[in-house]
Amino acid sequence: MAVYLVTGAAGFIGANYVHLLSQWAPDAQIVAVDYIGFAGNEANLDPVRDRISFEKADIADFEMMADVYRGYRPDYVVNFAAESHNDRAILSPSAFMRSNALGAQVMAECSRLMPVTAHVHVSTIEVYGDLAAGAEWFSEGSPLNAKTPYSAAKAAGDQIVRAYMQTYPDLSIRMTHCANNYGPYQLPEKLIPLAVTNLLRGRKVPIYGDGLQSRDWLHVADHCAAVHRVLHADLGPIPAAAATDPSLLPIFDVSGRQEATNLEIARRVVAELGMDPAEWIEHIPDRPNHDRRYLIDPAKLESALGWTPEHAFDDGLAETVRWYRDNPSWWEAVIADKGELGFDWAGQGTARR
Ligand SMILES: NC(=O)c1ccc[n+]([C@@H]2O[C@H](COP(=O)([O-])OP(=O)(O)OC[C@H]3O[C@@H](n4cnc5c(N)ncnc54)[C@H](O)[C@@H]3O)[C@@H](O)[C@H]2O)c1
Repeated sequence: MAVYLVTGAAGFIGANYVHLLSQWAPDAQIVAVDYIGFAGNEANLDPVRDRISFEKADIADFEMMADVYRGYRPDYVVNFAAESHNDRAILSPSAFMRSNALGAQVMAECSRLMPVTAHVHVSTIEVYGDLAAGAEWFSEGSPLNAKTPYSAAKAAGDQIVRAYMQTYPDLSIRMTHCANNYGPYQLPEKLIPLAVTNLLRGRKVPIYGDGLQSRDWLHVADHCAAVHRVLHADLGPIPAAAATDPSLLPIFDVSGRQEATNLEIARRVVAELGMDPAEWIEHIPDRPNHDRRYLIDPAKLESALGWTPEHAFDDGLAETVRWYRDNPSWWEAVIADKGELGFDWAGQGTARR
């Protein structure tokens, strides 16, 4: 029986992956790891409670993770665990460095010392920084150019994983960079669930600055399918030329080529709930150092591994808005537990009420 170890499993994408994995690999043993940080929510695992073993553990703590590896001997490892919120990273960057950089190294080291069949490190489009005016998109060969504490911590994790790929050729470690995800179980501190849960409580959607920050959007289930495909791909040895050409490393960029500004997303969400965007959106002071635009090219993943996204953006967004509308008990409990999740940068990053 194959053993999967999934970290960050009580967060948004990790939980969605574990839900899907329980269907994709019905006979597998699934070990779900999370330290239940700010974004962690054990209730996200309720639908698969009887299918998983849950371990509350910190991926940046080598002894703790080595115990988990020794206890379960995983065949497949997917590391989703990270501190993930840009606003929060500006206020307290240290936790981000620990989870996203040291955590990446500890996970790679555990998979090196207690060999696994394959290990995927999940990274983000944000390590590439802002897309230059006129540039079409980033790809696996683009330089890392992080400019925020969150993306810098993720980029540090990337560099560590690249070093492990090339220094330990027997370690089958791969990496993905994904566009912005949307879907169920996302903490309402991120744009789409914040917008829906505000509107459902009779509050306006707060939009940073002019709202023309442009993002690349992908349904979370499509991201999970891409990660699963990369995990199981037969990739062969890394060519020597990868030393100077990172596009030859086992790195895959993931996107549905769906670009939209934050303002467009807000307008669509408001309209989806049958409300008037002119009345229900308010512009608020922008957060410091906000990335303006990014887009990423999934051509390598499509051509080498045959992945394509299954969710059309319009349908996926409508289905996502319906999910939050139909599951108020989920997000009401989150807000009761964690407090209001919007940020007020006029108030130096205090909670927005
Ligand atoms: N959300 C997106 O749009 C997006 C896009 C591309 C890539 N990613 C990446 O995907 C991964 C998951 O993102 P998400 O949106 O689900 O984030 P999330 O914040 O919702 O979940 C992350 C989970 O990791 C856990 N965690 C953090 N540090 C940990 C540690 N040291 N030990 C154990 N658990 C820890 C948290 O408690 C949380 O449950 C991250 O690596 C993120 O960088 C996210």
